[in-house]
Amino acid sequence: MRGDRRTAGSLLLVNAAHPMPDTAAPDLVCVDPRWPEIQLERRAAGLLNACIRAVGGEHAIVPVSGWRSREEQQAIWDDTLAKEGEAFTRQYVALPGCSEHQTGLAIDLGLAAEEIDFICPNFPYDGVCGAFRAKAADYGFILRYPAGKEHITGISHEPWHFRYVGVPHARLMVRLGLTLEEYVDLLRRDFVRRDLTFRAGRRDFRIHYYAGADRGLLPEEPGRYRQVSEDNCGGLVVTAWR
Ligand code: DAL
Ligand code: ZN
Repeated sequence: MRGDRRTAGSLLLVNAAHPMPDTAAPDLVCVDPRWPEIQLERRAAGLLNACIRAVGGEHAIVPVSGWRSREEQQAIWDDTLAKEGEAFTRQYVALPGCSEHQTGLAIDLGLAAEEIDFICPNFPYDGVCGAFRAKAADYGFILRYPAGKEHITGISHEPWHFRYVGVPHARLMVRLGLTLEEYVDLLRRDFVRRDLTFRAGRRDFRIHYYAGADRGLLPEEPGRYRQVSEDNCGGLVVTAWR
């Protein structure tokens, strides 16, 4: 029911073990009027565009795939399976219902070219794409499927797939070398009884994990701004800052 749908937050973990919750509904906007069909969650879209502008990539960096419905993910799965076979499909396409593209927080980017591959777009490590990578965490994005972490993410290295998680979390994940799976595990394990504190720019962040908590019962944090995100593993991550 529409009335029960909600924005789940930037730390929602979606993978083969954690399907996209049916009740979560991202607040979607078009990323760029030149590609009206590509949509992303509102805040992620704004920060993606800011990062692209910061590296002068407005003409060189192309959004290839943003939000997908479950039905679209199913069609991509079926099509890739028919064309490329099962091994390739499992490497590069998430199971329908288990794609983080369904959150509206994931974007595939390509280097502008006559032809761009939809499943594996070319997004190099040098030039303007490299400059985007270097700044991505400052705008809240991580490379979601890095090389060497395939056994954790379940997906092959995807140099083109970025995920919005929010600025302090992206910077922490880069600094600690963690995937989203590992970061959520770390919060669940170590930051239930104490805060994870982190300074980014002029902001001082306090991150805390609440297992099985109700949003309405979270303690007040006077004098701080606060964002609350579900993790899709039964808990809430509260990010407070001033
Ligand atoms: N390419 C990523 C894994 C997806 O299909 O969601
Ligand atoms: Zn992707």
